[in-house]
Amino acid sequence: MLTTWHLLLGFTVPVLGHYVSVTCPPGKVCQQALLSGSTVLLHCNISGARWYHFFMMTSSSNVSIIPNVNVMPGGSIVITKALPSQTGIYYCRDKNNRQVTRYEIDFQDVSKLHLTHRGLGQRPLQNETLILGHKERVFTQWEPWQDCNRCKKPGERKRVGYCYIEVPLEKPVPCWLYLGAIKIMSNRMRPELQVEDCQVQCVPEPSSNMNFIIFDNYRLNEGSGSTWLTCPLASIYRPVVWELDDRPLTWKGQLSGQDVSTFLDPSTGGQQLQIFKSAIYKCFVQQEFIARFNAQGNQDALGALQDKIKAEEALQGQPGPTLRRLALTLLVGTVLAAATLLLLLLRLLRASRGKRSRQTLLVK
Ligand SMILES: *[C@@H]1O[C@H](CO)[C@@H](O)[C@H](O)[C@H]1NC(C)=O
Ligand SMILES: *[C@@H]1O[C@H](CO)[C@@H](O)[C@H](O)[C@H]1NC(C)=O
Ligand SMILES: *[C@@H]1O[C@H](CO)[C@@H](O)[C@H](O)[C@H]1NC(C)=O
Repeated sequence: MLTTWHLLLGFTVPVLGHYVSVTCPPGKVCQQALLSGSTVLLHCNISGARWYHFFMMTSSSNVSIIPNVNVMPGGSIVITKALPSQTGIYYCRDKNNRQVTRYEIDFQDVSKLHLTHRGLGQRPLQNETLILGHKERVFTQWEPWQDCNRCKKPGERKRVGYCYIEVPLEKPVPCWLYLGAIKIMSNRMRPELQVEDCQVQCVPEPSSNMNFIIFDNYRLNEGSGSTWLTCPLASIYRPVVWELDDRPLTWKGQLSGQDVSTFLDPSTGGQQLQIFKSAIYKCFVQQEFIARFNAQGNQDALGALQDKIKAEEALQGQPGPTLRRLALTLLVGTVLAAATLLLLLLRLLRASRGKRSRQTLLVK
C-alpha cells in the first residue's frame, strides 16, 4: 500500500484506487473473464517489459498506443474501464523479446448483465447449446458469493457469473475468447449478477475508529430532478449498501418495484445510485461506513462538487487505510481530480499523523 501511496504523491499513476489485479506466473498462459467497465491491473514483474495485445477483431500491436492502457514503472499494465472490444490476448515480453506471460482476458459486456434475485424466485440463465458444429454448450460460471453487505441486520449478497462455452472433453473457455471474430446473436450470451438475502454476525465488531467522507450540498439536477451518487471504493466486485435516511436500499425492493425513489445501477453492482429527492444518503462498503451525501434539490445543476473542500481538523488518528484509499479514489474520480483536494487531503493526513480517533473529510 505504501508504494501506491508514493505513486499517488508523484502523480504518476492515473489509476490505483480500486482495481482488479490479475497475476499470471511467468511462462504461463492465464485465461480470465471479467466485466467490462472494470479497471484491471495485469502483472508482469520485469524491468523493461514490453506489452503487446491481440484483440479478437484486430491484429497485434503495441499497447502504449491505447488511450485507456497505462504501462506502469514496474512493468505491469493498468487497463482503465475496459471495453468489451478490448477482449483479447495481452503478452508481456522482456527486453530480448522473449514472452514472459500471456493473459487472455474476456471483458464481458456489463451493459448486458442479467440480474436476478433468489429471494424473488428469479432464475439465472439456463444452459444452452450453440449450433457451431462442436456441440458447444453455453453456461454461466459463477464467482464465489461476496460477503453480506450488512452485518447483524438482514442484508444482501451478490455474485458475478461469466458466460463460458464448453465443448465435450475440453476445458471451458470464456464466451468471447472462444468465439473470437465469430459474431452470433444470442440472448443467452451475457454475464450475470445474482443476489440473495443474508444475515451474518459482525466480525470483527464495527470499530469506532471510522474514516468517512461527507459530500455536502449535493444538488439534484433541476431539469431531470435527479442525480447519480457514486460510492467511493465500491464496485461490482465488493459488497456495498446504500441507506436513505437510515433505511437500507435493497435489490429486492428495487426488483420487486417497491423502492421507486432510488435506482441502484446494476452495471456497477450498486456502486452508483440514482436519486430523485433530497435526503441524507449513506453508503457502506464491506460493511464499513464510507460516505455520506447530503442531497438537496436546488437551482444549481449537478455542478455538485465545487473544488472547495474543508478538511475538519479536529480529526486525529493515524491516517487510516480508508482515508488513504479515499485519496486514491478521489484522485481518479472524474469529478474530483482537483489538485486542491489532494493538497487538503495531504494536509489532513499530515495533521492527523500521530494522533488517534475519527477522521472525516468534508467536501463542500
Ligand atoms: C519481482 O521480481 C523481483 C526480482 O526478480 C523479486 O525480488 C520480487 O519478489 C518480484 N515481485 C513479485 C510480486 O513477484
Ligand atoms: C511502444 O510505443 C512507445 C510509444 O510510442 C514506444 O516508446 C515503445 O518503445 C514501443 N514499444 C515497442 C515494444 O515497440
Ligand atoms: C450447465 O452446464 C454446466 C457446465 O457444463 C454444468 O456444470 C451445470 O450443471 C449445467 N447446469 C444445468 C442446469 O444443466
